[in-house]
Amino acid sequence: MEGLVKRFGGLVAVDGLDLSVRRGEIRGLIGPNGAGKTTTFNVISGFFAPSSGRIVYRARDVTGLAMHRVAAEGLVRTFQHSTLFLEMRVRDNVLVGRHLQHRRDLFTALRQGGAWSAAEDRERVEEILAFFGLAAYGDALAAELPYGAQRALGMAVALAAEPDMMLLDEPFAGMNPEETRRMMELVAALRARGITILLVEHDMQAVMGLCDAISVMNFGRLLAEGSPAEIRRDPKVVEAYLGSSHHAA
Ligand SMILES: Nc1ncnc2c1ncn2[C@@H]1O[C@H](COP(=O)(O)OP(=O)(O)OP(=O)(O)O)[C@@H](O)[C@H]1O
Ligand SMILES: [Mg+2]
Repeated sequence: MEGLVKRFGGLVAVDGLDLSVRRGEIRGLIGPNGAGKTTTFNVISGFFAPSSGRIVYRARDVTGLAMHRVAAEGLVRTFQHSTLFLEMRVRDNVLVGRHLQHRRDLFTALRQGGAWSAAEDRERVEEILAFFGLAAYGDALAAELPYGAQRALGMAVALAAEPDMMLLDEPFAGMNPEETRRMMELVAALRARGITILLVEHDMQAVMGLCDAISVMNFGRLLAEGSPAEIRRDPKVVEAYLGSSHHAA
């Protein structure tokens, strides 16, 4: 992205952000609360149009495309807070994600119940459930899953759209150490499948352990960029975190 700007009235949430992600890497995007990380995701994924600036993905200008068009380009995000259909079965949540790719009319599809899914879709859904360790939960309601498994399901829904790149917004938020360890393995396994990852996360141990490179945002701008080791000892970064009230690194 080049010169990305997103304003909300008088507030400039993203203020001229330049950021590149290399194919195949896990890139961390960190910064204090309110730095503009989620807004950046919202703009990349087509949830909001940018106020100005440009987003290029695999040599295609995707600036301002609608969410389903961005997803069809292979760029899919997860949400900071769960957006599962809690009263739907686990398996059907993943099928919904799959329809992002096929761009069928989702609600027509849902009204028709299970009958709408092709055999190929169903097979792929089972494979994705197994990948995320959710195979045993296929028939459960999403609401019945333990928290860690709900977050894994959120990733399964995103993976069902067959992305080349995933934007993960705080996948470890609220997790206990065991859930975090398990989720870190899943993120590494996604990359091993060839998926490029842009990871927003406050859990510094997880970020430092997973990322090839890290970009740091503060007040909507790029503050620093480098390897985990470089970022850890960058005085500007330490200062930005100590100056904010939460999430000291
Ligand atoms: N839809 C919106 N309307 C108005 N202001 C918004 C909106 N979304 C975000 N903001 C504001 O934009 C700024 C950046 O918020 P954003 O959610 O992008 O931060 P963040 O880096 O993701 O923070 P956190 O680490 O707490 O999730 C904040 O001041 C926030 O209040
Ligand atoms: Mg956020």
